[in-house]
Amino acid sequence: MARTTPTPYTFRTIRSLPHLPHSATSHAFLTRLATDPGIRHVMAKYKWTVPLLLEMEPLGNTTHDSKTLGLNRNRGAVIELRLRTDWYDGWRDYKTVRKTLCHELAHIVWDGHGREFWDLTSIISSPLVYLAFACFFCFFFGGGVGGY
Ligand code: NI
Repeated sequence: MARTTPTPYTFRTIRSLPHLPHSATSHAFLTRLATDPGIRHVMAKYKWTVPLLLEMEPLGNTTHDSKTLGLNRNRGAVIELRLRTDWYDGWRDYKTVRKTLCHELAHIVWDGHGREFWDLTSIISSPLVYLAFACFFCFFFGGGVGGY
């Protein structure tokens, strides 16, 4: 049996956009990120607690020449992630969104995009972290690596 240890270093609330179709799929996507063994490891290591993980409103964050993939409000009070494809016909690649999440997590410590920011981002988004913990996870809980 899986034994889960309650940790304060996690996302307290997860919320998808209720007015978009298949809101439950977005919610499951966010839950998968929040419970990703690599993400859990990183958050525990740096003692990060994020009160709210939110699906980003895609339209309000797109202009003709740019689109925001993620946002961090008030140093980790809220992290928003763009989950859906540009044409709303599906969801973005899991690992790509997870990379964006790592970028936004690093903004808990650093506001701008200076050297220290990128150093931290590369540490917490290192594929090694996710590989190591993914295999550990597979070993104990078995498979379940579905793609969105
Ligand atoms: Ni940024």
